[in-house]
Amino acid sequence: MIDRIVNTTEDDDTDKELEQTLRPHNFENYIGQEKLKQNLKLAIAAAHKREDTLDHVLLYGPPGLGKTTMATVIANEMGSNLRITSGPAIERAGDLASLLTNLQDGDILFIDEIHRLHRVVEEVLYSAMEDFKLDIMLGKGPSARSIRLDLPKFTIIGATTKTGSLAAPLRDRFGLIHRLEFYSPTEIEEIIQRAASILGVKIKPEAARILSDRSRLTPRIANRLLKRVRDFADVNGDGIIDKDLGLKALDLLDIDDRGLDSADRLLLLSIIDNYDGGPVGVETISALISEERGTIEDFIEPYLMQIGFLQRTSRGRQVTQRAYKHLNKNIPGII
Ligand SMILES: Nc1ncnc2c1ncn2[C@@H]1O[C@H](COP(=O)(O)OP(=O)(O)OP(=O)(O)O)[C@@H](O)[C@H]1O
Ligand SMILES: [Mg+2]
Repeated sequence: MIDRIVNTTEDDDTDKELEQTLRPHNFENYIGQEKLKQNLKLAIAAAHKREDTLDHVLLYGPPGLGKTTMATVIANEMGSNLRITSGPAIERAGDLASLLTNLQDGDILFIDEIHRLHRVVEEVLYSAMEDFKLDIMLGKGPSARSIRLDLPKFTIIGATTKTGSLAAPLRDRFGLIHRLEFYSPTEIEEIIQRAASILGVKIKPEAARILSDRSRLTPRIANRLLKRVRDFADVNGDGIIDKDLGLKALDLLDIDDRGLDSADRLLLLSIIDNYDGGPVGVETISALISEERGTIEDFIEPYLMQIGFLQRTSRGRQVTQRAYKHLNKNIPGII
């Protein structure tokens, strides 16, 4: 995968450490996603009132928007233990069985990248989620028999960047299905200010704005840029991040004032230069810029579509006039 500063995945250990310290722990500290929070608060209050567990929750949306964070918030708000695993980590049905039988009533099992669960594991999960029973086969051949185990009443929180590739039967087992949205620029500024105060960094509002413009409306990137700028300020300034210093620090990174990096520009410019802005199919784009289709769909396109630079039409991707303007390109047909 391409190495991008605007990369939305967690890349290294310091990154993970930073994410841990900055991770909000309850609804109050979790900025934005108001609709999602409202729905979850209601579901949690109802579960508490019934003295029951929470319905299974599926969270989906582009990386870095706060799915894992929300899972920890839900566990805290429910007062439940949280166990964390991921789709590819559960290799066999037996792995899932041991995970589930070790849970206690009310526990929450967070399955990250749930779209990458192995088929056989997925099928065992269906009945476990539906009626808290586990069907397992003992032995092989003619003497094989299946037994049914009672499981504790647990909640699964699944997270995925692609709902499209989630099998319908699995999707249907979730009572609460929610999409995480990109944040507003103001919310990102708030997230930056909050992170700055946790890290003991002083940042002026106009500098927070500059960082926010380049954060692709994504908290993970906002935090990462803040860290970069803080390092720069420690070395080159008096420790306070103002507009001037923020701009200088960010100039070193190859991102423009809308958060576009070279991969985004390459994608837009290839469509503009080779196909007059489109529409053009994603496979063609993939060949043009030598990038996998999945990477384009999950990491590059969502933000470009969110800010109205790219549209998905039935005939393929279309670059918008807004993108032409931003890239200083002449719009075809307009001299
Ligand atoms: N609403 C929020 N308010 C404040 N900080 C947030 C919020 N959402 C996310 N963050 C910050 O952004 C970081 C990334 O969030 P998180 O790891 O939850 O994203 P994710 O959606 O799980 O991404 P991925 O799909 O890559 O797993 C967190 O460490 C947290 O500090
Ligand atoms: Mg995550």
